[in-house]
Amino acid sequence: MKKLIKYLKGSWVFVICAPLLMIVEVCCDLLQPTLMSNIIDVGVASGEMAQVWATGLKMLSVALIGVCGGAGCTILSTKASFNFGAKLRQSMFDRIQTFSFKEIDKLQPSSLITRLTNDVTQLQGCLRMILCMLVRAPFSCIGGIVMAVAISPKLSLIFVVAIPVLVTAILLIVSKTFPMFGEMQKKIDRVNTVMRENLLGVRVVKAFVGQEREKKRFDGANSDLTNWTLSAIDRINLLWPIITFVMGAATCALIWFGGKLVQTGDLEIGKIMAFMTYLNQVLSSIMMVIMMSLSFSRAKVAMDRCNEVMDTQSTILDPEKPIDPEKWSVEFDHVNFSYNKTDPEPVLKDITFSVQPGQRVGIIGNTGSGKSSMVQLIPRLYDVDSGKVSIGGVDVKDMSLDTLRQHIGVVLQEAVLFSGDIESNLRWGGGTCDEDSLQSALNDAQATEFVSQLPNLMHNIVEQRGRNYSGGQKQRLSIARTFAKNPDILILDDSMSAVDTETEAKMQTALRERIGSGITFVIASRVSAIADSDMILVMEDGRIVGQGTHSELIKNNEIYRGIVASQWGEEAIA
Ligand SMILES: Nc1ncnc2c1ncn2[C@@H]1O[C@H](COP(=O)(O)OP(=O)(O)OP(=O)(O)O)[C@@H](O)[C@H]1O
Ligand SMILES: [Mg+2]
Repeated sequence: MKKLIKYLKGSWVFVICAPLLMIVEVCCDLLQPTLMSNIIDVGVASGEMAQVWATGLKMLSVALIGVCGGAGCTILSTKASFNFGAKLRQSMFDRIQTFSFKEIDKLQPSSLITRLTNDVTQLQGCLRMILCMLVRAPFSCIGGIVMAVAISPKLSLIFVVAIPVLVTAILLIVSKTFPMFGEMQKKIDRVNTVMRENLLGVRVVKAFVGQEREKKRFDGANSDLTNWTLSAIDRINLLWPIITFVMGAATCALIWFGGKLVQTGDLEIGKIMAFMTYLNQVLSSIMMVIMMSLSFSRAKVAMDRCNEVMDTQSTILDPEKPIDPEKWSVEFDHVNFSYNKTDPEPVLKDITFSVQPGQRVGIIGNTGSGKSSMVQLIPRLYDVDSGKVSIGGVDVKDMSLDTLRQHIGVVLQEAVLFSGDIESNLRWGGGTCDEDSLQSALNDAQATEFVSQLPNLMHNIVEQRGRNYSGGQKQRLSIARTFAKNPDILILDDSMSAVDTETEAKMQTALRERIGSGITFVIASRVSAIADSDMILVMEDGRIVGQGTHSELIKNNEIYRGIVASQWGEEAIA
């Protein structure tokens, strides 16, 4: 709770004034029954119309003040809660930006989306309720009891029976329902995961005619959530008959005993009516407490989930005293790496190699052999388990993350563009590129031709995830984006898979000129893309099983010979 209070910064005036205005409304509500009993017992009983009018006017004014108080409270509490929600969401979003791939893998994007939306909204609603109800319920309850006792201490004994019965029922039922809400949020996560996977992969679903299967999968998650929610609500619903019964019994008791007091002349009818209103107010405020406790219990779960995001520290942090390398060479020294510590075998095993500036490294190997995993260790998208990755002799863990990532350009296997236009995507990598450098980046990525045919050229719109561009166009644009960054180390992870061989050759030539004294890592499945590299790494099952130039490997590496033979024919290795 303490952790969340700081998000109220800037809203304290609303937070303080809203409950005060609510107190005004409660006081007005408490005054009304007494004024009404005055009209009946004094005005009507004695036939004094002037008194009836005067008290009626008083009631009207009190009602107006009450309405203003209530409306003011609603407006201020809404402002406070929305400001709170926006600040919390922003902080969570900022925190998520600091996460490494490991934390994202652990917390899962779909769960993070639920936390940023559903959970924050839950907390927002709860805050609004606290600001309005938290003062209203006790004030209305205690105020009602005080006013009722003032009317008749004897009749007030009804509260002594009714309140404990109600409170026991509430505690029993609510304590059984509380734990169900944690599970409910998890089930919402599951629905979101299925929905997200389906919507992102909608093309694959259609291509595989997988709608029916997907419908079933969604139905499973959706029904699970609905059934769980319904069983929680069923338990809560048990409360309403109990409340109605207690209220009915209390009213009967009031009429029974109150009637006797009227008969003996100890109490006037107006006072009985006022007492009845106070009785209703007291019992309703207890109902309000139920509603609040329900909202609290859901908010508690939401709060824990939001705090989990805020408390998660990225495992990949800046060192206290960052060291800048003198040159941008890359060394891997007996590196082992696994995504989960519990995995029986690491994904990368004993990787050792070094690359000097100006060199071009080709990486080839079966699918799942660890190529992408290996290059992701260079910009510290993940950290090694043991061994060392260093740049110019400096362990990447000792370098500032900003410096490291500014000098390294990665084109990931999956080309992702952001909504905006082409220019904003090219500038996305940071740096202050002028128009010419953007054009040359596009040129080198062989994207000029198709961009020049677009109706708005560089300002052509890019929809979410770049879905209005073809696979090859997306790849070229994401390569251009990395080129525009002018990195010292460029990593292309299977980034030319969707371009034809001719374009690929042009891109390779441009790449050589562009990177010059930098290092390029090219992961490819086509031998043609890496054959002229200064060094080729052949990977199998998380290990480097071959290292050398194309001709060296052809001579002495069976696995490489196999790959070349399968693509270029037996004569290529003869
Ligand atoms: N985020 C992840 N979490 C857990 N395991 C992963 C993750 N990414 C990859 N792996 C596992 O690590 C192994 C190596 O994957 P990697 O992506 O490095 O292979 P790759 O050589 O790049 O394959 P491809 O040629 O298909 O791209 C695979 O067995 C894969 O299942
Ligand atoms: Mg890969």
